[in-house]
Amino acid sequence: MIRIAIDGPGGSGKSSVAKAIAKKLGIIYVDTGALYRNIGLYMLEAGINPKDAEAVGAALPSLTLELKFEDGKQIILLCGKDRGDEIRTPEASMAASDVSAIPAVREYLLNMQRDTAKKNSVVMDGRDIGTVILPYAEVKIFLTASPEARAKRRHAELLSRGKDVSYEQVYNEMVERDKNDSTRAIAPCVPAEDAIFLDNSELNAEETMDKILEIIKKKTKQKPNFYAKAKVVVAPLFRFFMRVKAIGIENVPSDGGLVLCSNHIAAVDVISIGAVCPRQLTCVAKKELFSIPVLGWVMKKLEAIKLDRGGSDVAALKASIKAAEAGRVLTIFPQGHRCPGVNPATTPIKHGAGMIAYHAKCDVVPVCINIKGAKYGLFKRVEVIFGKPISYDDLGFTEGGRDEYLAATEKIFKEICALGNYSSLPDYDPSKDKIKNKKKRK
Ligand code: DC
Repeated sequence: MIRIAIDGPGGSGKSSVAKAIAKKLGIIYVDTGALYRNIGLYMLEAGINPKDAEAVGAALPSLTLELKFEDGKQIILLCGKDRGDEIRTPEASMAASDVSAIPAVREYLLNMQRDTAKKNSVVMDGRDIGTVILPYAEVKIFLTASPEARAKRRHAELLSRGKDVSYEQVYNEMVERDKNDSTRAIAPCVPAEDAIFLDNSELNAEETMDKILEIIKKKTKQKPNFYAKAKVVVAPLFRFFMRVKAIGIENVPSDGGLVLCSNHIAAVDVISIGAVCPRQLTCVAKKELFSIPVLGWVMKKLEAIKLDRGGSDVAALKASIKAAEAGRVLTIFPQGHRCPGVNPATTPIKHGAGMIAYHAKCDVVPVCINIKGAKYGLFKRVEVIFGKPISYDDLGFTEGGRDEYLAATEKIFKEICALGNYSSLPDYDPSKDKIKNKKKRK
């Protein structure tokens, strides 16, 4: 999956180049400006001043906006109707710029844009794609040109569509819109810190496209990272000495953010899962591990998330949500600590997995590490059983909150337990929980 963000001011040629790149790569092109244009048009037609934040915000619930793709082509239905070129007039352009400065409008469109990029590889163009909508885009380009060059292009485009406008009018409107878009308080049109800046004042469309394709090629050239290199060494050892076998590997989606939840028997659980999971895992590990020489270095190289188990670690929670939103596979152990030798269905669990799935809006794959007696041993078979993904919509969330997170985690954990053969093991007994009691004594 690849997400390419192309931001920049109007007339920089980003839509034509984004469309051509999407076609070349066989992925979809999302023109986010068209969403703002439709809302701008709606307000004009409803007699609402597009600059009036209160009136625009109040009118939003009365419109419907649907973004869909047919044969890769974007279609936007405003109140059920495709408004075609009506959104491209200078009046609609100005109205789009005005409504785009209103926080309620940006909020209204945020998830629509993010959800599209969650499900598909995209080239998305706009003003805030690299900074706000897809901060994790693999490629970010800020495409711009001098106001004169951009006005010249826009003027030619309008003339070719039979619109009778002067160059001066186009230029003046463009400068005003630039000012509006780049100085507004919310999501201004500015390059993301990690965006590649490209000025195409002196380039034609073909040259711009070549430059961008070159950037994409460079950015996406996959060098094996530390995780991949470590896996080549560790996975075969684990498969041989621990007899790790995967079951249900087809249940792991090939891309997109995911929470992978497993029962917890030993510290090496994450290695057992990683040895057979086709996707790179991001794990959450207690902060103490990061200060152990060598191991701490390895944890950092593996991009593990540091967790302070002393209380509620907001930074770790935010990092976990971000990781899942960025399309990673986050590995969580709902039991919170290792529980070897007991029936996992009787152990207490925490609500973190549900909370992360809720905030990152992602699906969950239940995983059961199934070992005879729930204890590791050399050459003893370790089954890593991947269950069917539980979709976000089936986790029973309405408005979030601790009770909902816990109920969702309980549902996930029930599925984890149903995958293994642990019902004949002794029930969990807190007084015999050496790991938890050792932690308490500390
Ligand atoms: O890209 P465009 O000219 O079609 O965009 C129309 C207006 O919408 C533009 O003036 C600013 C606004 N816009 C925005 O604020 N954020 C986006 N991601 C896309 C467009």
